[in-house]
Amino acid sequence: EKGGYDYFMLKEIAEQPKAVADTLLGRIDTNGSLTLDEVRIGAAELREIDKVVIVACGTAFHAGLIAKYAIEHWTRIPCEVELASEFRYRDPILDSRSLVIAISQSGETMDTLMALRHAREQGSRVLAICNTNGSTIPRESDAVLYTHAGPEVAVASTKAFLTQLVACYLVALYLGQVRGTKWGDEISAVIRDLSHISGEVERVLETMEPVRALARSLADKKTVLFLGRHVGYPVALEGALKLKELAYMHAEGFAAGELKHGPIALIEEDLPVVVVVPSPRGRSVLHDKIVSNIQEIRARGARTIVIAEEGDEAVVPYADHLIRIPATPTLLQPLVATVPLQVFACELATARGNEVDQPRNLAKSVTVE
Ligand code: M6R
Repeated sequence: EKGGYDYFMLKEIAEQPKAVADTLLGRIDTNGSLTLDEVRIGAAELREIDKVVIVACGTAFHAGLIAKYAIEHWTRIPCEVELASEFRYRDPILDSRSLVIAISQSGETMDTLMALRHAREQGSRVLAICNTNGSTIPRESDAVLYTHAGPEVAVASTKAFLTQLVACYLVALYLGQVRGTKWGDEISAVIRDLSHISGEVERVLETMEPVRALARSLADKKTVLFLGRHVGYPVALEGALKLKELAYMHAEGFAAGELKHGPIALIEEDLPVVVVVPSPRGRSVLHDKIVSNIQEIRARGARTIVIAEEGDEAVVPYADHLIRIPATPTLLQPLVATVPLQVFACELATARGNEVDQPRNLAKSVTVE
């Protein structure tokens, strides 16, 4: 049932192009606009929403962090993202004009379930983004947008994450489409790009051998840091989480702009630092800033592992290891940038002799608070 792979995780990483394509299937119509009947909240009501609140845990939370950039950019609706386990204990401000989005692969995560119950008690609408048909979270929500990743067996979430991102982009673009924003043309262009993105994920998978070799060469390291900006920041957090849970290594993700506010003190000779570089097109200011961050850490001895778009030559002089990803619109980059980090963590775990599909102390779905 592992389809010839040594681990479910490897199989699930490889299934990502299909998972992404399946999650888009039937949701983009022939004239290039979105049909999301599943959202089941009428256009008039969607126009009334004055706040989006996303609740989730772990990897699903990272999908939510990325969704915030997309939702706020394309819809101009303020969006908060909160760890489900923190949410209801701080008496959050919610009402009938808040749209709460609960993201969960399993649909059984107790923290997320309690958060959505709390939101419904406050009169908010809850939309679930979920991978498991008929599970508790979608049953208790007002509506559900299913991700079509297929069953995810490995404890570490991979294909579910990519499909959660797709679902979040769909919701953001749909809200933008229904409410109408100045980004109308951009929304149509991004919908077109999304419909081709599974091919880009496939291309990334075809170039992963050097990433595996790099991971094996780092098997005796104690710490790996991850840096990103904008949507690359949650990608860095996700890269660090994967490494913690699979390789049992100390790993931390930082917003690159925070380096000088503390974390740069951690940099020492030969410390591996993975940097997710935003596209040099689009928000090029961010790109240039991160290139100077890479220079700064390299000058202090870090071993820089740089994930950058094809054609981005500015990073070349400062990259000890360069991992290329296809050019995508800025907000969609996490769909391709996360894949090498999954492969990296999986290979490091294998090299360290860890149980890849069943990391110690962890369960696939956490049904206690
Ligand atoms: O089933 P859920 O998406 O609600 O699970 C949330 C987290 O427990 C989950 O993403 C966890 O962080 C993964 N093991 C990460 O790989």
